[in-house]
Amino acid sequence: MDKFVIKPDDALHGSVVVSGAKNAVLPILAACLLTEESCEIQNVPALTDVEEMITLLEGFGAAVSFDRTGEVMNIQAGQLNSMQADVEAAGKMRASFLTAGPLLARYRQVRIPLPGGCQIGTRPVDLHIKGFLLLGASQKQEYGMVELWSKSELRGKNVYLDFPSVGATENIMMAATLARGTTVIENAAAEPEICDLADFLRKMGADVQGDGTDTIVIHGKKKLHGAVHRVIPDRIEAGTFMVAAAITGGDVLLEQVQTEHLKPVIAKLAECNVKTEQTEQGLRIYRKGRLRPMHLKTMPFPGFPTDMQALFMSLAAVAKGTSVITETVFENRFLHAGELRRMGADIKIDSRCAVIEGVDTLTGASVRATDLRAGAALILSALAAKGDTEISDIYHIERGYYHIEEKLRNLGADIRRENS
Ligand code: UD1
Repeated sequence: MDKFVIKPDDALHGSVVVSGAKNAVLPILAACLLTEESCEIQNVPALTDVEEMITLLEGFGAAVSFDRTGEVMNIQAGQLNSMQADVEAAGKMRASFLTAGPLLARYRQVRIPLPGGCQIGTRPVDLHIKGFLLLGASQKQEYGMVELWSKSELRGKNVYLDFPSVGATENIMMAATLARGTTVIENAAAEPEICDLADFLRKMGADVQGDGTDTIVIHGKKKLHGAVHRVIPDRIEAGTFMVAAAITGGDVLLEQVQTEHLKPVIAKLAECNVKTEQTEQGLRIYRKGRLRPMHLKTMPFPGFPTDMQALFMSLAAVAKGTSVITETVFENRFLHAGELRRMGADIKIDSRCAVIEGVDTLTGASVRATDLRAGAALILSALAAKGDTEISDIYHIERGYYHIEEKLRNLGADIRRENS
């Protein structure tokens, strides 16, 4: 298995082009199942999660072609021949469950593995299923699979989410586009990726309103049609390079970024003494003085994103003073703390709260990526540490970062891939 070997180097400098958003592209690819017509999706990064989604779509019988260099994917789900998800592909990625809503709406049936828990929490899909049942579906769960079906077309209803779950909002929104009547999702998630999915659905002929707020209204249509869509830039990848610039004391320009999606990250970086500046070419990030500590709490959008929490813990580990990080979205998202401690970080965890005393320098060590963002946090810490760091289990990182080592090398980092 491959590992990354990172030698600390100077501050990062230069510019980096942000790729398409993983968390936007996955639901959008699932949404292509809503129509028999062909869809073209642009700005699709060839991440391993995207490859898993292709396997899943093909397993249902969709025709998929992917120009990985041009980052354009064509999907035609005209002749679906299976309503049963490819168990292996579905098991590798939680987002596979996003195919349930479209298939249930269009074919009135689907059989798909229940996603298990993962490193960061139990992550049930009860809210997705509750929504489907409200729209008129029935369900049976056995042998680790959930079967959903509906004798007639789904019917629009009011769905109140107990928590603004991103995945449940997306799944119910997709199912509702082909339901009879009006669906209102209350306490809906408002993440930019929800808005991108809604934009795509509208291009397909769906009537979706209110995305980006906590109430989404969908008037169901009999049929949707093919569409062309360009995926939004990945705000978490952008945030990762912002923290990379901050932690190394560098000066980096992000190209192809939507600054308004990064407001909570920019605000928190400002507290840490990191400057951001909107220029004609993109968003510039630089730091002049010592990093200041921060207090942050992860929240659904527009709050601080849980996907950036590990990265800010890397920053806090070398800031001057005491930082407090509270994780409210996932119950077990501090696995990186143990690995950061091995690099010399001073972190105490009490339940969902981490107290970090900044140290002058971290030291390189052999560490393990426990999940996607935890892995990215280790890369950033390694860039600012004294001595070499080896990171194993980097397949987690490749799920969500496109060519991260090339992009970092272009900014001056000394990072290479080795086969262990
Ligand atoms: C998505 C993102 C992930 C991000 C997360 C929160 C994708 C592919 N992934 O994941 O990167 O970290 O949003 O911003 O877009 N929950 C339930 N029942 C449910 C659904 C969720 O209890 O039916 C809980 C989860 O266990 C978790 C919280 O709600 O504690 C948030 O999960 P959710 O917003 O659904 O995250 P995902 O859509 O899985």
